[in-house]
Amino acid sequence: MEKYNYGMIGLGVMGRNLLYNIADNGFSIAGFDLDKQKITELEEGATAGTTVAGTDSLEEFVAKLETPRKIILMVPAGKPVDAVLENIKSLLTKSDIVIDAGNSYFKDTNRRVADLATLGLHFMGMGVSGGEKGARFGPSIMPGGDLEAFHSVRPMLEAIAAKVNGESCTAYMGKDAAGHYVKMVHNGIEYAIMQLISEAYDLLHRGANLSKDQLYEVFKEWNNGELNSFLIEITRDIFQQKDEISGGFLLDQILDKAGSKGTGKWTSEEALENGVAIPTIDAAVASRTLSSYKEERVLASKLYPKSEITAPENIELFVQEVGDALFLATLISYTQGLSLLVKASEDYQFQIPLQDVVKIWRGGCIIRSSLLETFYEAYTEDPNLSNILLNEKISELVKSKVTSLRKTIGFATSNGISTLGLQTVLAYFDAYTTENLPVNLIQAQRDYFGAHTYQRKDQEGVFHTQWESTNQ
Ligand code: 6PG
Repeated sequence: MEKYNYGMIGLGVMGRNLLYNIADNGFSIAGFDLDKQKITELEEGATAGTTVAGTDSLEEFVAKLETPRKIILMVPAGKPVDAVLENIKSLLTKSDIVIDAGNSYFKDTNRRVADLATLGLHFMGMGVSGGEKGARFGPSIMPGGDLEAFHSVRPMLEAIAAKVNGESCTAYMGKDAAGHYVKMVHNGIEYAIMQLISEAYDLLHRGANLSKDQLYEVFKEWNNGELNSFLIEITRDIFQQKDEISGGFLLDQILDKAGSKGTGKWTSEEALENGVAIPTIDAAVASRTLSSYKEERVLASKLYPKSEITAPENIELFVQEVGDALFLATLISYTQGLSLLVKASEDYQFQIPLQDVVKIWRGGCIIRSSLLETFYEAYTEDPNLSNILLNEKISELVKSKVTSLRKTIGFATSNGISTLGLQTVLAYFDAYTTENLPVNLIQAQRDYFGAHTYQRKDQEGVFHTQWESTNQ
């Protein structure tokens, strides 16, 4: 029997599309799913001339694969991954490779790596970004874990990934669960940028009364300039989408409650855990939570009515300032996410190559943007850059936009338009670039009430003072 090069477990949209992408690139691949319907659809939908087979028997699936087997899992994160591993473990043989391509929590991945290693099996965590279309025609792929296993799947990954300037958007992200960690942070940045774009939309729409057609034009122009990115591009198109039911614009009929699957929250939790400040990602997570209080927000809007918005006098200038503010805020969102990767790489000894991270995010993934090219240049110059803001070329870019960010936030606050994301960006920037923060006072307070001690500017060591109370 002819053996297949690869196996795919989970034939939902993402799994099926990734499988077709692999097959189209000349690799034979077998798919497994318990759902017979999905297997029929799989074989019917394959490109003519490719070698694709489906089965609902795990034994048959395993027997179809050449050894060492290379099996990709595309099943929902959490219990389903453990359930598949439990079922398949005993059917596999030493040196087989299992790759989890879902959005798994990195600590689960570390546990699974260790667990499968006891059987001589290689387990890899691999982030895949780009949604359904990306999976089918070229995602950004973030593999991590066993280096030997990575090398044996590398040619396939390079073939199926998106390409930028002829280079594949995939690279080794580091040891253990590094691949899933990088994907988690990718999603945290995704949350932040989406939040910032929604605030820009609110400012232009509610603040400056721009119509959907005008919004479309603004985003089109932005996408043709330095804001060029996948998220700006799809936002541009969203403004044009008509609704079949109401006949108006679909966006106007969509309820203002945003869901989440948890990767943004994990990023925030991780940053807290590792002592990294990523306030814009935190704000984006909090903003989705706030959006869920719909009923309370309706009540509160009656209790605290807002005065009418004073539209900006010069709309053209305002649009340009909002665009500049969004650009800078996007840049600082990446900055925060990347600084978490720097710290996590040290703390967990992942050895994440930052230069490769920004390189493979340039294409295929949800946060792809022209800005990543600038970051790539910065990391090429200094692969150990701890914070993007410290690069000189980037500092020039930042300085040229910061006044627009201040003015945009000024407009928002004076008109009662919530800009959680933009405000955290500015506050982060102002704190990060301040030599003397007022935290000396916090140290004094801590020492006053709890003898927590403090350090001095003029002497080495740790000090405690018997603070004098003037309270009679
Ligand atoms: C991607 C996306 C993808 C998914 C997110 C959505 O990179 O292709 O990030 O992974 O769309 O999980 O996350 P939320 O449901 O939490 O918004």
